[in-house]
Parts: sequence; structure tokens; C-alpha cells
Amino acid sequence: MTPLIRKIEREFENRFTEEYIVVKSPGRVNLIGEHTDYNEGFVLPAAIDKSIVLALSPNGTDTVRLVATDMDDTFESDISEEITQSQKKWPNYLLGVIDQLRKNDFIVGGFDCVFGGNVPIGAGLSSSAALEGGLLFGLTKLFNFEIPPTKMARIAQKAENEFVGVQCGIMDQFISLNGKAGQALKLDCRSLDYEYYPFNNDNIRIVLCDTGIRRDLATSEYNIRRSQCEQGVNTLQEFQPGITSLRDVSLSFLLQHKTELPPDVFKRCKYVVEENKRVLQACNDLQQNSFESFGQRMYQSHLGLRIEYEVSCKELDTLVEIAQNQKGVLGARMMGGGFGGCTINLVTKEQLPVFKKQITSKYEQKLDQPLSVYDTKVSGGTHLVTEGELTSAN
Ligand code: GLA
Repeated sequence: MTPLIRKIEREFENRFTEEYIVVKSPGRVNLIGEHTDYNEGFVLPAAIDKSIVLALSPNGTDTVRLVATDMDDTFESDISEEITQSQKKWPNYLLGVIDQLRKNDFIVGGFDCVFGGNVPIGAGLSSSAALEGGLLFGLTKLFNFEIPPTKMARIAQKAENEFVGVQCGIMDQFISLNGKAGQALKLDCRSLDYEYYPFNNDNIRIVLCDTGIRRDLATSEYNIRRSQCEQGVNTLQEFQPGITSLRDVSLSFLLQHKTELPPDVFKRCKYVVEENKRVLQACNDLQQNSFESFGQRMYQSHLGLRIEYEVSCKELDTLVEIAQNQKGVLGARMMGGGFGGCTINLVTKEQLPVFKKQITSKYEQKLDQPLSVYDTKVSGGTHLVTEGELTSAN
């Protein structure tokens, strides 16, 4: 990480000034609780040691100057008038944050920003949430805004919903901003109450297997799943008016009304109701240090995502199947929106080297496609980088 931070700092100094702050904002994994956030359910994500780094400084003008080092691209915008979307995609993640701050009556002045990172883009590790949260956090420091953590996550989420046009839930932004080293975060996506659970067993590693598949389909299918869940809620409400989201639905109630729902809608709802329950059980597993049982729930989650929620794909299923037959693997499942991106695997430290080798060669043999494998660590959320952090990393 240190070379990346130094690179961003050098770039900032070359282009702008020597006075600036540096923010590090992490990507995330989701241990369990997929497609539950926008259903007011539970999720259990953790921030990881792959981040976006931003150097920032106010420039005393009405202009925002942005430099995306990984894309070798720049963008400039006058923010004295209403902020509008850019034709280019990447500036919108940042402009959306400024727009949301303004809508919440925070006065954002002109600033310069250089950023880059090592969160693989489009791999389901929330590089976009890391960027949004990173800028938001940086601007609170530059302009002295006081915003509580929950509100920060909402602002970053809305930036993506309204400016980028992706109807994501709140999980990614919330965990990127509020992650803690060695801790997973259970978030109640209805109340936004949250609690940390230890995820720091030295013998167990979180390994991500990246299919390399980046499908646009994911966005349209994502919105279809959202509306199917809403359709389910609307119908179930007719039988029990108190139901406002799938969070309020029990499995027995859903089964009673199976015939009232179109088959696809029933399957989507059933998956969500069961996944919510799995998250709560998985939290108990962590409290009891029972990773075997936790891993079994990951397999069940994958099965539900594959068969009932139908957001998996051949590549993800192949990876889970290979992992399941590998020594030292406690659990595996697809992660994030689906249709590509990564699987998340819990692997014992002892078997890690063999696992990496085997899964790569078996995947390539079966699908004739390359696989990237990342070994990750549960790390802290968005924060200011201090010189101390840099020296201790060396
Ligand atoms: C994407 C979204 C999240 C969440 C997951 C599915 O990552 O950004 O809000 O809905 O998909 O769990």
C-alpha cells in the first residue's frame, strides 16, 4: 500500500501543491447476506486491505480538478452552478458526492483531487463505494463538516443512486466507511443499527477468486430482482397490511401464500427470507468461533443465489463446486450482485497455497479461462493516512 500512497502523493505535488490530506478508503467483502440490503434485511460485510487512495486540497476557487491516475485521465468542472452529470463515467462517482452534500446544505468549495487504487474494478469488491466514501470523508475534513456515520453512508449511497444511476443498497458504502480491522460488521439495513463481530482467526483466510467477468447485464438484472421483491411485498401486504418489506415476512407466512405469487417472485422472496435468517445464525457462529458452521451457511447462501435468486453464472458455480471439493475449504459462495465478479472462500491457512494452485488450474482446465486469486485481510474503514501509518507499514 505504501508505494501506492507515495505515488498518489507525488502526482498531487507535481500537479498542485505540497499541502494536502491523504485518505484511504477500502473495498469490501460480504461474508453473507446477499441481496438483502435493499430488502431492509441483514448483511455481514467486512472492509479489506485493498483500497482507493485520494490526495485532496481546497484550491480557493469554484473549480474542482480531478485526476484519475489509473485511467490516466483528468476532469475539471465549475461547481458554482448546478452540478450536472459528466459524459465520462468515472467523474460521476465524485460529482454525485458533491451534489449530495449540497442537497444536504453543506457548502463545498473548489478543490483538487488525485486518486488511484488497487481495488479491482467491477469485480464486486465495491471500488465505487470506496471512491464515493473516500471523497466524502475527505471533504468533511477539508471543509469541516460534521456528519454522523449513518448519514455519511446514506449520502454516499445516494450519490451512486442519483448521479451514477445504479440503484444499489446501502451495504457497500456503509462498510467501506465504517469497517474495522479484524471485525465483520452486522448491519440492520432497516434501522441502520450495526454491531461488530470478530473475524480475526489467524488460521482462516478470506480468499477471493475473480472470474474476470464484468457483465452489464448485472445492472439490469439487479433492478429486475429489486422490483420482483417489491412485487412480492405488494401482494403479501394484501394479506397482512403491516408488511412493508421482506424483512417482515416469515417463511411459514410466505409458504402459506405461495400460490398467490408468480413462481419467480415466490422464489426470490423465499431466498431473501432465508438469507436474512442465515446472517443472524452466521453472527452466532462467529461469536462461538465456529467457522465450520459459518462455512456451511455460505454454501447454502450460494445455492439460494444460484437456484432461487438466479443471479449466479456458470463460472461462479464452477468455482464454488471446485472449492467445495478442495481440502481446507470451510465455505464458498458467489459475492455481490452476481453474474460475474468474485467468489469468496474461507480457507485454512495451512491449505492456502495448495488451494490457490488447485483452484486456478482446475478452473482453467474446465473453462479454459484464466483466474485471478486474491488473499485478503479484514481491515479498517475510510480514514486519514498519517505519516505514522506509512512508516509502520515499511
Ligand atoms: C451490489 C450492491 C449492494 C448489494 C449487493 C448484493 O454490491 O451495490 O448494495 O445489494 O449488490 O448483495
